[in-house]
Formats: sequence, C-alpha cells, structure tokens
Amino acid sequence: MMKKAVVLTFGCQMNEHDSQRMGSLLESAGYKVVPCSTTPDMVLINTCSVRGKPEQKLSQLLSNLKKDKNQNPNMKIIVAGCVAQQKGEDLINKFPFVDVVIGPDGEEKLLEYLNQINKGVSVIDINFNNEFSYAETLVMGPSHNSHAYVTVVKGCDSFCSYCIVPYVRGRERSRIIKEIKEDVKGLVKKGFSSVTLLGQNIARFGRDNNEDFQSLLNEISQVDGLKRLSFLTSHPKDFSKKIIKCFEELPNLCPMLHLPAQHGSNKILKAMNRGYTREQYLDIIAELRSSKVWDKLSLTTDIIIGFPTENDDDFKDLMDLLERAYFDNSYSFIYSPRPKTKAVELFGDKEDKANRPLFTKRLLTYQGRQKELALEKNKRLEGVILEVLVEGFSQKDHNKLTGRTSSGKVVNFVGDKNIFPGSYVMIKIIKAHPTYLSGEVLNVKS
Ligand code: 5AD
Ligand code: SF4
Repeated sequence: MMKKAVVLTFGCQMNEHDSQRMGSLLESAGYKVVPCSTTPDMVLINTCSVRGKPEQKLSQLLSNLKKDKNQNPNMKIIVAGCVAQQKGEDLINKFPFVDVVIGPDGEEKLLEYLNQINKGVSVIDINFNNEFSYAETLVMGPSHNSHAYVTVVKGCDSFCSYCIVPYVRGRERSRIIKEIKEDVKGLVKKGFSSVTLLGQNIARFGRDNNEDFQSLLNEISQVDGLKRLSFLTSHPKDFSKKIIKCFEELPNLCPMLHLPAQHGSNKILKAMNRGYTREQYLDIIAELRSSKVWDKLSLTTDIIIGFPTENDDDFKDLMDLLERAYFDNSYSFIYSPRPKTKAVELFGDKEDKANRPLFTKRLLTYQGRQKELALEKNKRLEGVILEVLVEGFSQKDHNKLTGRTSSGKVVNFVGDKNIFPGSYVMIKIIKAHPTYLSGEVLNVKS
C-alpha cells in the first residue's frame, strides 16, 4: 500500500506554493499526499511566522502529534517554512520527535533528507541558498490543475519595521526572465492556463540581474495559451506607472492589484519604515482611477492595526484612507511583535495586552466598513456577464460550483455535468455579497 503524507500549510501564497512543491517531491518519493488521515506515514507542517498566532498553533499541533508518534513511531514529522527557519535547533530540542527541520531554502533537498531520516538521522537545514537550483514549478495535485504559482523573486530587502520576513526568507534574489518563461511554457503545456508570479516586493524584480518587472510581464504575457497572468505582492514604494501601462496593454494580465497600505497615518507609516506617505499612496490610487483598468480592477490591501503609538487620530487617518482608496478587500490584523525586528528593538517584544480591547474594537470598525464598501463595489457587477475559471465545488454550498473572475473574485453558480475544473464559463452575476458573487451559467467554453 502507498504511504500517506499529510501536508499542512499556514500563511501566505508563497507558503502554499512551497507546500505544492514539497508535496510533489513527496509524491515522487512514493508518498500519496492526502488532505487528512488518522494514520499518516508522514506529516509535513509548512509554517508561517509573520504573526505570533500561527507559531502558537504549531506548538499545539506538535504537542498533539507527540501522542500519535508514540502510537506509531514510524510516522515521520517534518517542520518546514519560516518558523523552522526562525527556531532551527530549538524546535528539535523542544520537540525531539520531529525528524526534519528545514527553512524555505532547504526545501529543495527534501528527498535527500528523506533518505537520511529513513536511516534514523534527524536533519536541520536552515541555510540560505542563493541559487534557484531547480525548476520552481513541479507537478501539482489535481486540485490545482488550472492555476499555478511561480516564484520570481525570493526573499525581501525592504525591512518594514514590524516584519520578520527579511530575517527568515533572506536577501532578495531574482530569477532570470528566460528561465521563468520556460517554466511558464511548461506549465501551459501541462494544462495550467492561469499563472501568478510571486515575490514579496515583486516590482523590484530583476534589479540584481539587470532586468526589470515590466519586461517580465511583457515576456510572460506572450506565452501561447496563457489565458491569465497575475502577480503578488506590490509594495507602494516601488510601484510605478509602467505597471499601470502593462495593465492597459497586456490583454491577459488580470485586473487585480494587491497593494498593501499597512496604515493610513503618516506617523505610523514612518514608524513602520514603509518608505511612502499616505499622500503618495493615494496618488497611486488616483493614477489607477484615471487609467483604463480602473473599472475592472480589483484592489486589495493589507492593514496592521495597533502598531505601537497608534492613537485615535492615527486610526481616523486609516479609516479615511479606506474611504478614499475604495478597496475590494482588506486583509487586516492586529500588530504582533516579532523577534529580530526593528519595532521590537524600539518598542519591546510584549503584546500590548492593556490596549487589546481597543485594538479589537478598531479592527472590527475597520473590517465592518470594509465589508460595506466591498458589497457596494460588488453590487456594480450585478447583471454583468463575466468569464469564470472553474475551480470545483463550492465549500459553502456543495450543490454549487465555484470559480474566479479574471479579477480574482469568487463566483458560485449552479453547475452542469459538462463543466469541469479548469474550464472557462460565461456567468451572469445575479447577486453580490461582500466576499463573493452568485451567478448563473450562460454557456460552456473550452
Ligand atoms: N504583525 C501583524 N501583521 C503583520 N504582517 C507582517 N508582519 C506583521 C506583524 N508583525 C502582515 C502585513 C503583511 C502581511 C503579509 O502580514 O500586513 O503585508
Ligand atoms: Fe515584510 Fe515589508 Fe518585505 Fe512585505 S515588504 S515581506 S511587509 S519586510
């Protein structure tokens, strides 16, 4: 019988992508990757350390797995990703039953490490690796048979004062366009018609190789058969008008932009070391508004509430930015102090417990207004016909299918047996909701 591996992923798209790649490596080593199992032969946990909570979750999870490992000593446990990078040996000291601890750059050597642990040797690899040493895109599981992620820049050099990423993912390193294009061509051949290029601050792509982001978008958009091209994440300090031009000129470049503002107060933006003011951020929004892409564009952002020294006036500025920017969605969280960061050096590593209720109130106020604006924005789509890439059954309602518009909005609709994941269908939007749309099928395409 085939050995079963469960891969658990916390965190961002970069992590999801890393998990897909590690899942592929496990499959090539004879494992079957399953969503869950009561008796797995391997559990791989891909961790995230951007905020403190996921880290606590890891400790709980490992404490639970200890019991399983006592019952089944052959079960292998791998901890990968940013917490692995951050904690290294401490993890094995605290949880000695863990077999492998690997940081984001060590994941490529997973197969080698499987051999070692089969010989009973535990492995820790938290070295940074400057090379992109193997194709970043391997086979994906069946649930990802139409959309793939491709990493184009690893690491981050922006050093926002709250953020641990530059310490756990290392320096910024770009791949070269020629190689990325070969990867994307390969993916299209395998049936992936939608690709998202990934980088923590993607507009800085190519600085280390004398290439640039606009050229990357131009080149990749020309790959035959690539219906949808998108990218994540855009840092406002490096965003340029040239990117807006790409949106206007490249027909398969999806009208979606994730532009994390993080805050709306100049004082807080400065303390966060973000490198732009609220006025500069709003200038980008004004440029987008006056461009041809605005009507179709889905604009999303990340927000941190409760950064040290945030007062009522700062929060007012944040709410004002929310009104003016008119986001489709915000990923908003309360600030969590992270080791090694400048903010911890300046303001200490303790959570501000006394002000927690105030921060929660601000977070809910922000999220409540965002929800209203999202609904208002989505309502403009009622009655509109949009092309949807089908992903499968809806999690909310198993009688319905779900897919995404080119701007990344989730659409749920009543299915038909001729519609399969990976196909494109024309859907008439019937009803808007804050986080998704409901629609009905017009006809089935390709
Ligand atoms: N506390 C809270 N949120 C954080 N993020 C990054 N670091 C922290 C932190 N210390 C958020 C930012 C970033 C997103 C990926 O996570 O908003 O854009
Ligand atoms: Fe973190 Fe800032 Fe880099 Fe984003 S740009 S990963 S928030 S340091």
